[in-house]
Amino acid sequence: MKKIVVNSALGILMAGVFTSCGNNSSSSESSNASDTTSKVSKAGIQQSDWGETDGKKVFLYTLTNENGVQVKISNYGGTVTSFVTPTKSGASSNIVLGFEELSGYLAKPPYFGATVGRYGNRIAKGKFTLDGNTYTLATNNGQNALHGGLKGFDKVVWDVAPIDSATPALTLSYLSKDGEEGYPGNLKVSVRFSLSDDNELTIDYEADTDKATPVNLTNHSYWNLTGDAKNTILDHSLKIDADKYTPVDTTLIPTGELKPVKGTPFDFTEPHTVGERISAVPGGYDHNWVLNHKMGSMDLVATLSDPSTGRKLEVYTTEPGLQFYSGNFLDGTIKTSFGTPIQKHAALCLETQHFPDSPNRPNFPSTILKPGEKYHTTTKYKVILEK
Ligand code: GLA
Repeated sequence: MKKIVVNSALGILMAGVFTSCGNNSSSSESSNASDTTSKVSKAGIQQSDWGETDGKKVFLYTLTNENGVQVKISNYGGTVTSFVTPTKSGASSNIVLGFEELSGYLAKPPYFGATVGRYGNRIAKGKFTLDGNTYTLATNNGQNALHGGLKGFDKVVWDVAPIDSATPALTLSYLSKDGEEGYPGNLKVSVRFSLSDDNELTIDYEADTDKATPVNLTNHSYWNLTGDAKNTILDHSLKIDADKYTPVDTTLIPTGELKPVKGTPFDFTEPHTVGERISAVPGGYDHNWVLNHKMGSMDLVATLSDPSTGRKLEVYTTEPGLQFYSGNFLDGTIKTSFGTPIQKHAALCLETQHFPDSPNRPNFPSTILKPGEKYHTTTKYKVILEK
C-alpha cells in the first residue's frame, strides 16, 4: 500500500476551506481549526457535540485514517461535511462542499453531502402503483417527488451505534415510519461509513421493511477536487463506464429509453473534461448513466481527476446507475466561510443509485423492497494522489 504523508498542520490547512456558511464568525472557524489540529494525528473516530434539532442531539464525527486523511460525518442527515486530503504540492484541503456548523444544514442547502432517501432522485408526479395500491408522495420538485420528499433522510437526526474510538467507522440508523412522505411500510435503514488506510470512504446501506416499498439510497456529496469553491469543476476530467444513459423530459423524468451515449456529449467512456461539451447539454449534466457492470458486483464505475492538484477520485459501487449532476442549480446564493458565493458548477455529484422513476418504469431494474428481503448496496469513494 502506498501511503500519503500528510503534515501535522492538516487541521489548520483544512480550516474553513470550502466549509461554513457565510454567517459564521471567523473566531468560530479558528477554534474549530485548532480543535481539529489536536485530533489529527490519531487514527480512529472522535465525537463532538454539534447542536440539537427536532429535540435530538446532533453530533459531528471525525474519522481519521493512518495517513491523516479525515472525513467528517454528522448524524444530522447522515451528512458527509468534509473530506480532507493532500494535494501534490503537500497542502491539504476539503474536496466536498460542506459547513462547519449545523446551522448551515438547517438552512436546507441542496443535499450537501447528505444521505438521500427513502428514494434518491425523482418519482414522476409523486405517484406510483404497487400491488394494486396507488401511493401519493410529497412533491417537492415541481410536480415530482425528489430525494425522499419535503423531509427526507437528509433532514432527520439519525441514531448512532456505539463507536470504537480506534476504528474510523460510523453506523447510523433511522426508522422511517409507515406513511412518512407518503411511502408505505416501516423502513429500518442503517448506513455504515468507514474510512480505510487506502483513503477509501466506503458506504454500506442496509434496509428492511414490513410492507413493499420503493427504496433507493445514495450519498449526495458535491465534489470539487481543487479543494476551493472559487474554482469550477469544468476542467475536471471524468470517465464513466456506461454505454447508455436515461434521457429525460423537461422535468428531469426519464423517458424510459436507454439511449447509447456514442456520438453524444454523454459519452464519458473515455475521459473528457466536464466543460468540454456541457454547452451542448441544455441546463448542464443532470442525468442517470446506465452502468456497464453487473448490478450487485462491486466495481469501478467512474473516475474523476483534477490535474492541478493531482487528485483522482474513483467511484466503486454495486448499483446499476450513476447520476452525474454538474451543480447546475448552484447560483451563488450559498456562501463559503470566506463569503465566496458557491456558483454554478462549483462542484459536481456522482450519485450511485437505481434509475430515477423506477417505480413507474417496469423496464428499469426494480427498486421495490419486500418484507423478508434485505436491501444492501455499497458504494466506495477512493481518493488517490497522482504526483
Ligand atoms: C440531484 C438532482 C438535481 C438536483 C440536485 C439537488 O442531483 O438530480 O436535479 O435536484 O440533486 O439540487
